[in-house]
Amino acid sequence: MALTTRPFRSVLYIPGSKERALDKARTLPVDAIIFDLEDAVAVDEKKAAREMLAHTLRTADYGPRTRIVRINGLDTAWGSEDLAALAGAGADAILLPKVGSPSDLDVAGTLAPDQPLWAMMETPKGILNAAEIAAHPRLQGMVMGTNDLAKDLRSRSRAALTTSLQLCLLAARAHGLVIVDGVYNAFKDEDGLRAECAEGRGLGFDGKTLIHPAQIAAANEVFAPSEAEIDLARRQIAAYDEASAAGQGVAVVDGAIVENLHVATARATLAQADAIAELERAT
Ligand code: COA
Ligand code: MG
Repeated sequence: MALTTRPFRSVLYIPGSKERALDKARTLPVDAIIFDLEDAVAVDEKKAAREMLAHTLRTADYGPRTRIVRINGLDTAWGSEDLAALAGAGADAILLPKVGSPSDLDVAGTLAPDQPLWAMMETPKGILNAAEIAAHPRLQGMVMGTNDLAKDLRSRSRAALTTSLQLCLLAARAHGLVIVDGVYNAFKDEDGLRAECAEGRGLGFDGKTLIHPAQIAAANEVFAPSEAEIDLARRQIAAYDEASAAGQGVAVVDGAIVENLHVATARATLAQADAIAELERAT
């Protein structure tokens, strides 16, 4: 499946230094994994984690799960060696932390000429440059880094991040990128997670980044089209086809207008449901 049409409902971070978690992830029902070499790995473990991760990616089978590796920043002591160790290891994309401008992507693109790139959107400068970053020809996805962003903004609520979330969403949609929401830190609070997933989906995100396996089920459920949405999509398409056959450009379903743009959304809903079913069959 092309990277941009795959499901990204649940995107689980796994510290690249935790062998047990790396192993466990091969059977978890996640759409994608972010193997982390950056903030989840202590300074003393950077080198060992990099080597273990490169070996794991070469040898372990993660099935249909998209494999993304978050390297250390290219302005740190580890970033370029991370890229060198991962060359040819089989990652589907490289995720760059703290991207501030398109030139950060140029640097990574030169060091890793064959890898699709993703960007962490998590600094004030990066958010202000979101449109130029999203336009970079090598970029395929964006990940909101809400913890770092809140730290830099000194903001104290999810609501305070709305402008940043929406600027990145606008940029990603303008350039056909995948975009996933930030993590929900309180990993034992399922109600809170569900509410934040619903909010993220409502804003337009493709899915949510997660920190713990206990968060997977909620994200998979909330970011998938519901039975009611699938049913409505089918009825909208049928009603519109019938109206078109009768020479009309507009139909009405459940008391609401259905035009060609609604049919496009309905078809996208069904395609998303099919892509999820295909992935779940293979997991
Ligand atoms: N990915 C895969 N497996 C994970 C996991 C993850 N992110 N987090 C926990 N697990 C596994 C554990 O290995 C354990 O497996 P086991 O039962 O086979 O031993 C099981 O899930 C239960 O783990 P639990 O004891 O509840 O969690 P913990 O106390 O060991 O760890 C965290 C809690 C938050 C430290 C851990 O989940 C974690 O490191 N998350 C990722 C953090 C991260 O990557 N941050 C960077 C981006 S924000
Ligand atoms: Mg960060």
